[in-house]
Amino acid sequence: MNSKELKKLDRQHVIYSWKAQGQVDPIVLDRAEGIYIYDMEGKRYIDGCAGLLNVNIGHKNRHVLEAMKAQMEKLSYVGPMFATEPKARLAAMIAELTPADLDYVFFTNAGAEAVENAIKAARWYTGRHKIYARWRSYHGATAGAITLTGDPRRWPAEPGIPGVVHFFGPHPYRCPFGSQDSEECGEKTLEVLKTQIMLDGPKTIAAIFMEPIVGTNGIIIPPQNFMTGLRQICDENGIMLVIDETMAGWGRAGKWFGIEHYGIVPDIITTAKGITSGYIQLGAMIWSKKIWDYFYDHPFTGGLTYAGHALACATGIANIEVYKKDKLIENSAKNGEYLNSRLQELKEKHPSVGDARCKGLWACIELTSDKKTRAPLAGFADSVKNVSVGLTKIFYEHGLYLFSKWDYIFISPPLIITQEQIDDMIAAIDKGLEYTDSQI
Ligand SMILES: Cc1ncc(COP(=O)(O)O)c(C=O)c1O
Repeated sequence: MNSKELKKLDRQHVIYSWKAQGQVDPIVLDRAEGIYIYDMEGKRYIDGCAGLLNVNIGHKNRHVLEAMKAQMEKLSYVGPMFATEPKARLAAMIAELTPADLDYVFFTNAGAEAVENAIKAARWYTGRHKIYARWRSYHGATAGAITLTGDPRRWPAEPGIPGVVHFFGPHPYRCPFGSQDSEECGEKTLEVLKTQIMLDGPKTIAAIFMEPIVGTNGIIIPPQNFMTGLRQICDENGIMLVIDETMAGWGRAGKWFGIEHYGIVPDIITTAKGITSGYIQLGAMIWSKKIWDYFYDHPFTGGLTYAGHALACATGIANIEVYKKDKLIENSAKNGEYLNSRLQELKEKHPSVGDARCKGLWACIELTSDKKTRAPLAGFADSVKNVSVGLTKIFYEHGLYLFSKWDYIFISPPLIITQEQIDDMIAAIDKGLEYTDSQI
């Protein structure tokens, strides 16, 4: 079948995420290798968001493919009641990589399921019901995870699960409490959170969920004082701190896990995406020792047919081997600095760039119609005008795929990218920003 016929078949039968089905118009992709994806006509694009920020080791990695083949020859799947070598070994490898005593792993299929199970674990462990999550956050599309989500993707799913409360997290570029300084914004936000918790009843709160660095709401990097203070609030009030590393983990932010930037230890980590670099689905909820000790003699009444899928776990092992062997976490930190310097040049050059935030190979350009007032160009939920459709088209024309929405352009390539390839990406982004400049 050619691409036209395939697209016709696709649009006759396939339901896509998030959009009215009549608006879906996908490019038909044929193959992928390294940092590149190729359409049916052979046109090459840089996969500038590493799939959906998960293909961290790049496409078609031979080591992972061979490991997957070998595992399938042996055993692809058995029920989650059995122990297998891949499941035990991957859990041990994760325990080795995560901070402190976060040594106990429950495998899920993806990030949202990890969050669902962390909600349950925190509620059962504490005997409390409220779950706090920040505005400007995303935690997944299942019932609980979407209720935690602090952005417009939650709106159609309301009222959602009971007991979820949102709070303002620090956002240095758009501080909810009017500060222009990152640490001061952290301080003010923390004080308001303390007051909110005091009024809401600290003993009713099971957990606070946070992305260590906010992902799809614009790579918002909290200041250290907020994160230190957050850990303290949780300790003082017996509240579990759950850090959602679905996107931030696995080298994306220049360290194995995003929380390592802050030197604090969560009670639970949730993760997915880069755990297998998207070669197959896998997620995980990771407990610290005190949570494990509680569930040692209390049942954990959560279950999934595919928990600890042998093929997925074998893929995870091979994927971690690639991160280590090819020094991809170090590469993310080093080339992330280079990417950041190139993005700051674009910020200087283009009137429509309000801010460029970058941690590791994880970056966001935030668009504005006025650098001084920081007025949005597209607006939250495209409340002013939609520029991402036009932008995506220009990026495609210049051989680049980037995920963009509202005022955000995300740049998060596979961690194997070189500086020359970053330059290719920047050249295409430069073209896209000429268009957004023209929209002011
Ligand atoms: C921070 C965060 N949590 C959870 C999820 C949901 O993960 P999944 O789509 O694998 O269920 C995502 C997805 O982007 C995410 O970024």
